[in-house]
Amino acid sequence: MENVTILAIESSCDETAAAVVRNGRDVLSNVIYSQIDLHTVYGGVVPEIASRKHIEKVTQVVDKALSDASLTLKEIDAIAVTYGPGLVGALLVGVSFAKSLSFATGIPLIGVHHIEGHICANYIENKELKPPFMALVVSGGHTHLVKVADYGEYEILGRTRDDAAGEAFDKVARAIGLGYPGGPKVDKVSKEGNPDAIVFPKAKVNDSVYDFSFSGLKSAVLNYLNQAQMKDETINVADVAASFQKAVVDVLVEHTIQAAGEYGFKEIALAGGVASNSSLRSAMEEACKKRGLTLYRPSPIFCTDNAAMIGVAGYYEYIKGNRSDFHLNAVPSLKLGER
Ligand code: KG4
Ligand code: ZN
Repeated sequence: MENVTILAIESSCDETAAAVVRNGRDVLSNVIYSQIDLHTVYGGVVPEIASRKHIEKVTQVVDKALSDASLTLKEIDAIAVTYGPGLVGALLVGVSFAKSLSFATGIPLIGVHHIEGHICANYIENKELKPPFMALVVSGGHTHLVKVADYGEYEILGRTRDDAAGEAFDKVARAIGLGYPGGPKVDKVSKEGNPDAIVFPKAKVNDSVYDFSFSGLKSAVLNYLNQAQMKDETINVADVAASFQKAVVDVLVEHTIQAAGEYGFKEIALAGGVASNSSLRSAMEEACKKRGLTLYRPSPIFCTDNAAMIGVAGYYEYIKGNRSDFHLNAVPSLKLGER
């Protein structure tokens, strides 16, 4: 197939993003307008505010993605857009914009699964990476161990039973007064702390070795904080953050390595916002090295929400001939592998 150039749009949470991607691997532009500052005062994403900001920003962000790539819409082969999972109002902005643009220009439309996008982010900087491989998806809403059987073909090997890893980071960050966005703040402050200062429980799910559970760990941190407060003890925020982070990272690494061994995968890819966590990146790298496994991890900018990853996933749909029609709608709880 000739060069395929995809314009991608992502608006599932609090980033308004657009990108241009060629042949599924080359990112010609990657524009991200982060709304983080707007939501910080509320301690988390306010869906209504996110949707309104997406509406304000989407046109500018798409224009910039095209101009950064020095292209016009005439040179675009398809418009890929995240249609789920995510916040319904936020998703609707990207989906409606993409549908209107497709209708007005005749450029084909492709709905993309957000988590599939996160996994596909690994193809951008690793041109040699091809399925099958195993991915650990760790984002604000998801914690999945996934068998990537082929492009667009996924089998979930394990998942969280309660909180997602990113959600645990965000909740603990709030409890120790670091505020929003929690993950990057815990990551940063942990560098000053002792990860062995407090032993928090590493939750195992008895009937499945590959499932995760983080709500018990979160409660253990909250109990620790309450007890310290009752005893009028001062809390070492860096130690709490580092010890919590270690408990999360240890479980993620253990389950991933165990699953890779059992299913015979030699290649592991990290995906999602939590994949930008410095401790997870280094612990997973060390564990993989020890066992002769190859680890792929996107640069942090391709781990957190972006549209380049949607352009990559959109490309693999495009070459299979998959297109969406104008009935494409936002699906807030879209499952991986579902279309
Ligand atoms: O993938 P993502 O950008 O959005 C979703 O699809 O959810 O992930 C956002 C999540 C948030 O929970 C955020 O706190 C977490 O990723 N995160 C991190 C780091 N950077 C972002 N968690 C731990 N360490 C980080 N450096
Ligand atoms: Zn995401």
